[in-house]
Amino acid sequence: MRVTMIGTGYVGLVSGVCFADFGHDVVCVDKDPDKIDVLNNGGVPIYEPGLKELVAKNVRAAHLAFTTETERAVKNADAVFIAVGTPSRRGDGHADLSYVYAAAKEIAGYMGGYTVIVTKSTVPVGTGDEVEAIICKARPDLKPGIDFDVVSNPEFLREGAAISDFKRPDRVVVGTDSEKARTVMRSLYRPLFINETPIVFTNRRTSELIKYAGNAFLATKITFINEMADLCEKVGANVQEVSRGIGLDGRIGKKFLHAGPGYGGSCFPKDTLAVVRTAQEAGAPLKIVEAVVAVNDARKAKMADKVIEAVDGDVSGKIIAVLGLAFKPNTDDMRESPAIDIIHKLVEAGAAIRAYDPEAMEEAKHQLPDITYCAHTYDCIDGADALVIITEWDQFRALDFDRVKSLMIAPVLIDLRNIYNPIRMAEQGFTYISVGRPQ
Ligand SMILES: NC(=O)c1ccc[n+]([C@@H]2O[C@H](COP(=O)([O-])OP(=O)(O)OC[C@H]3O[C@@H](n4cnc5c(N)ncnc54)[C@H](O)[C@@H]3O)[C@@H](O)[C@H]2O)c1
Repeated sequence: MRVTMIGTGYVGLVSGVCFADFGHDVVCVDKDPDKIDVLNNGGVPIYEPGLKELVAKNVRAAHLAFTTETERAVKNADAVFIAVGTPSRRGDGHADLSYVYAAAKEIAGYMGGYTVIVTKSTVPVGTGDEVEAIICKARPDLKPGIDFDVVSNPEFLREGAAISDFKRPDRVVVGTDSEKARTVMRSLYRPLFINETPIVFTNRRTSELIKYAGNAFLATKITFINEMADLCEKVGANVQEVSRGIGLDGRIGKKFLHAGPGYGGSCFPKDTLAVVRTAQEAGAPLKIVEAVVAVNDARKAKMADKVIEAVDGDVSGKIIAVLGLAFKPNTDDMRESPAIDIIHKLVEAGAAIRAYDPEAMEEAKHQLPDITYCAHTYDCIDGADALVIITEWDQFRALDFDRVKSLMIAPVLIDLRNIYNPIRMAEQGFTYISVGRPQ
């Protein structure tokens, strides 16, 4: 099949290269010429494990190409995916759909024969109807169901494990009432059918809501265990053991039960806000998700307080070393990373920050321009009054603590990801503070 991706970001690029690897002919379009230049010169504009090699392999096999020209890419396509950003709209938390609608209008101008337009971006309920209306308005000569169909196919990949998530998903969700469009979608995902991946066919609005319901549920699970961690600290319990104790119950499940500094990233913060707004407007408020949003926002500031308390309640003039800036390991994505709020609050309180992240420092410089970026882990720790681990990259999991201690002014470690053992750390002579575990 001939596939076009409009938007070559985290989702568009990974989906595009994976469809190419399934054997389809894929063209990825982006309006950012720098991104397309990087790709056409053999690079990748984001950090995602395995992505560079897979892109190179499929470009070599002539299954994958990159362009800024929408016209050429859309004209002969069987399916055109919209994978542009849907950030929070300033002020009200709604999803900003201007990129999606602009892409729909552009696509309409160039459509040739029967085309399936697929929204892969995370979009609120009813967006597919609007995309269809935009196409009908721009091209009165085209009839939905005959010349084109608009299908919802939300993406569930996780950054850092995006390729395996795309190729071995728990399920694929496809929202459409058109049998013709279902046939195209079945062909696109045929390799997954062979692997017996469940494919949930539903109507367009249900499919759109499934994505938000999934993210709201996962954000709730994280926030639940984070609040439990606070309770553990008050009553002398251990949140890791609570997580294990409840997670082994098959009805609850082990995943997303790691206490930490609060969720961030390109999806949960904006998607929880957007679904809250959708629900309020529909007259069916999601009180639980509203509470999750508020608790998570407050948590990031609370984590900065934890650091300040560890340094005797005053960080002014102190050097705080920060390991990990990305919102999670194995990505360079800084969007809504807890590190941003934590560092801002520490800087406001007078701390000087030295930071190191294996992949996210270039991105971080846009949001945190006034801190010191270091060349490696031990360079970052050198001369620090306290060390904070915010993102649990593998390379921070086996630090040489003799070396760490010799470099620091005082051996104070605030581990916001619970990657070390409190007893071992005390034995090493550290003042060790973690999340929801007895010191
Ligand atoms: N990042 C994730 O892990 C993830 C996971 C699941 C779903 N999603 C959803 O997927 C969508 C895309 O997210 P992302 O993280 O890939 O965004 P991104 O910001 O990384 O990429 C979007 C790209 O679209 C391009 N673009 C915008 N308008 C365009 C147009 N008219 N023509 C061509 N290119 C255009 C931008 O230049 C940008 O490169 C969002 O709705 C997001 O919520 C993201």
